[in-house]
Amino acid sequence: MFIESFKVESPNVKYTDSEIKSVYNYETTQLVHENKNGIYQWVVKPKTVKYEFKTNIHVPKLGVMLVGWGGNNGSTLTGGVIANREGISWATKDKIQRANYFGSLTQASAIRVGSFQGEEIYAPFKSLLPMVNPDDIVFGGWDISDMNLADAMGRAKVFDMELQKQLRPYMESMVPLPGIYDPDFIAANQGDRANNVIKGTKKEQVQQIIKDIKEFKETTKVEKVVVLWTANTERYSNVVVGLNDTVENLLASLDRNEPEISPSTLYAIACVLENVPFINGSPQNTFVPGLIDLAIQRNSLIGGDDFKSGQTKMKSVLVDFLVGAGIKPTSIVSYNHLGNNDGMNLSAPQTFRSKEISKSNVVDDMVNSNAILYEPGEHPDHVIVIKYVPYVGDSKRAMDEYTSEIFMGGKNTIVLHNTCEDSLLAAPIILDLVLLAELSTRIHFKAEDEAKFHSFHPVATILSYLTKAPLVPPGTPVVNALSKQRAMLENILRACVGLAPENNMILEYK
Ligand code: NAI
Repeated sequence: MFIESFKVESPNVKYTDSEIKSVYNYETTQLVHENKNGIYQWVVKPKTVKYEFKTNIHVPKLGVMLVGWGGNNGSTLTGGVIANREGISWATKDKIQRANYFGSLTQASAIRVGSFQGEEIYAPFKSLLPMVNPDDIVFGGWDISDMNLADAMGRAKVFDMELQKQLRPYMESMVPLPGIYDPDFIAANQGDRANNVIKGTKKEQVQQIIKDIKEFKETTKVEKVVVLWTANTERYSNVVVGLNDTVENLLASLDRNEPEISPSTLYAIACVLENVPFINGSPQNTFVPGLIDLAIQRNSLIGGDDFKSGQTKMKSVLVDFLVGAGIKPTSIVSYNHLGNNDGMNLSAPQTFRSKEISKSNVVDDMVNSNAILYEPGEHPDHVIVIKYVPYVGDSKRAMDEYTSEIFMGGKNTIVLHNTCEDSLLAAPIILDLVLLAELSTRIHFKAEDEAKFHSFHPVATILSYLTKAPLVPPGTPVVNALSKQRAMLENILRACVGLAPENNMILEYK
């Protein structure tokens, strides 16, 4: 059975006019490596830490500014939200299609809330805590191409024509602000597109972005803004001592107009200085150490990197399943071909390298979790190939071969072929990223030994379900396994309303 909403009644939770307050007992373990009579042994001690959570229930009017607004993802997301808001439907060759938010964790997935008369009861994920309704988001942003969003949607060739025709009137007047363009960081083949760029030094460019955010807030009357990079993949920037390794060095480099500060880092600096959440949907190392420290210093949310939309999502499910089943993946080979502008940009070796890095580390945590299968330092062969094939447009092909060792020296090979419009996978993920980033800034909590409530760490690991290479604070483990990432997110939101984590034990029926 499906219920639309619910309220928790418990001594552990209190709903006021402005907040939901909850007390949550975090059941964890403490490990000790003890010397008992000359023999070392691991001792695991269950430990309970009492946490208090406070969630502000005022849902703000939200503005989302996309860097790369006129790209395939930007135009698809904007059109998709308008179509949902306006209740648009259109005829395809199969049926009358209605707008929906399929592919969005917050809008189209469910959580289990319990059992009722022998039946499992589910509710929308978004019913856990008050969240911004995506239909109410005001979109804006920057692009180095001045094409309006209606034409950009046509250029993207993602939506059916019938839908495009209905969306055009809403999107024609949407024109991206000039963006920060530096041909050194993206492929040379993007040069023709760059007719809408901010002039001046890097410092002046940062100041312009700050001005743009302020003006956007004023004109749209939104209460909060989230900025998200869905522009072209950049090459990695060099991390160099004295250049971008500390806050002071990064800001001094900005003053000196150092060429090695990438456009994405400039947008991120502007956002952190303005205390506006900044999310990076591409693989490059926008978050150089000096920028991460700046975000920590200013307690300003940053999250990334690289949307986890297709091939990597499958990988973080499949390898988790294989390793969890005691099967040993020994070779993972992933081919992609795509024909959109992203594919054209990735055909340059430096930008491809950024993608290769972010796609490469996704199995590490799963491999490291099972030393029965892998010797220390042993790793499956893992190869990634991306080719630009214009004809297929946004309809990306991903072909993967997983070879594993099974019982008694046997070998098992699984082959996947995935065809899908890339932007239709990415757009709902962008939506989840901005909605969850906004929500997370309204949650404050403290452990029993802490004096004061505080926000989540500014490096937003809570968003990791949605990113290929989750950015984590220094010294924090990276979790790539998709089911763990989802459980983490769901269970933290459950804690905010005083509910125990979903443990799937269903003991009442055992
Ligand atoms: P796109 O090439 O269609 O759009 C990117 C847009 O960014 C273009 O309109 C371009 O003019 C603009 N742009 C480039 N540099 C800019 C700058 N410095 N400032 C402002 N605008 C700038 O690409 P698409 O397909 O929308 O993808 C966007 C990004 O998302 C790419 O980096 C891609 O790798 C990443 N991504 C996409 C996924 C997907 O499934 N679609 C999955 C994971 C990541």
